Amino acid sequence: MDLSAFPYLQGNYAPVLEESDFGLGDLRVEGEIPASLTGAFMRDGPNTAYQPNHYVYPLDGDGMIHAVYLKGGQATYKNRWVETSHLKTERKFGRTIYGSVGKLLEVPAEVIEAGGEPNPVRNTANTNVIYHGEKLLAMWEGGFPHLLNNDLSTVGLYDYDGALKPGDALTAHPKICPDTGDLISCTQRWDSPNYWVQIFDKNARHKRTIPVQFERKGIIHDLQITENHVVIIYAPAFHDVTRAMRGEDPFSWEPEKGTRILVIPRNGKDEIVTYETEAFFSWHFCNGFERGGKIIIDYVWINRMPFTQAQGTGVEKQPRRMYRMTLDNASKTLTNEKFSDVFCEFSRVDERRMGKPYRYGFAASSDRQWADAHGYNCTGRFDFDTGETTLFNYGEQANAGEPVYVPNPDSPHEEDGWLMCFVFNPGEGQYLSIISAGDVAGGPVAKVYIPTRVPNGFHANWMQNLTL
Ligand SMILES: [Fe+2]
Repeated sequence: MDLSAFPYLQGNYAPVLEESDFGLGDLRVEGEIPASLTGAFMRDGPNTAYQPNHYVYPLDGDGMIHAVYLKGGQATYKNRWVETSHLKTERKFGRTIYGSVGKLLEVPAEVIEAGGEPNPVRNTANTNVIYHGEKLLAMWEGGFPHLLNNDLSTVGLYDYDGALKPGDALTAHPKICPDTGDLISCTQRWDSPNYWVQIFDKNARHKRTIPVQFERKGIIHDLQITENHVVIIYAPAFHDVTRAMRGEDPFSWEPEKGTRILVIPRNGKDEIVTYETEAFFSWHFCNGFERGGKIIIDYVWINRMPFTQAQGTGVEKQPRRMYRMTLDNASKTLTNEKFSDVFCEFSRVDERRMGKPYRYGFAASSDRQWADAHGYNCTGRFDFDTGETTLFNYGEQANAGEPVYVPNPDSPHEEDGWLMCFVFNPGEGQYLSIISAGDVAGGPVAKVYIPTRVPNGFHANWMQNLTL
């Protein structure tokens, strides 16, 4: 595979070509894995299986899951591609068939005649992996999720027992309500501008749909819950599938339209309230909660839509930082304030506090000038009580992934949990980092070295009690 034409498939963005299994004793551990942890740390990300025709960062690439299973202070590792129908079709033909989300290609007649996947839009299954209602799902926001077994083998597309209809695109960023265990999710469609909040109960049974009307389909990546609401950001960022089919740049950023924030009552009955402000984009919320008639939303602010097919487009230098937005229900006004000067992305929280008052946010962070697509070399902790940001630097050239908060099963305190993320540090190697949430500056309490590389990817989660 020649990837020299693809700047975002270089270094630790390059795919790994092998599926590996490392058992007990294969992984060197520095420090000590907390013995009370039983479960799996899993991360999804793009891992193109064939040399692509076209590649848009950070959207394209076949999904691959990397999993570290922990039990009794010991670790094992496994990585597998998600076996999507697009990937299986390309394997059958031994070459790339489909285009990218930035340049769709007509599916050749011989592929369709041979029973290959006819949809030109690849379900990459590359964005997130979640465990809810005892279902392990690889998520992609443009289609159905894929159901996986605990050993990462793929069962197939999952439609929530028929709740998802053909053409429904389920978000990769649902939130789990810590009080009810409900999964608060949403669907969009390629053939409609509208948006539907979808709520599933703790057993993954569909419970409620709340429709939201839009005049134009926006790129809405994440959603945030609060006690009574779902909050979404409608930025002036659009994708035109017809232009993608013609090979033209399908993305448009129209800042004169401003950004809207929609506050949608979770009961599905009360009125939806819309706030308007100057244009910004965001991939990810950190958390949100309600206090005294106000809704407080913490998220990673980006100055504009961040897609690119090449370096030098400006995406490499885009500012992105933790912000706090306050929506005042009485005056229908908002304030939007920068919380920290640290470059960050992939914000996470102790999910026992999802939608509730909390103290700490966590994010992949950088203490370097963000200019060369090297990624994030730090884990950051954002203390919303004191205003302080604390970083741990893994190395100047290191790449650190999304830090997932893993609760300490023996303590309700935020400080007593751990942060887990994959780190690739040239010269040192690949490891799973485990940091105490109460002592981020102190660095890893354990490094679980993996004898292969884990490319930079997207979202991870801790699957409590999931074992092989
Ligand atoms: Fe995301």
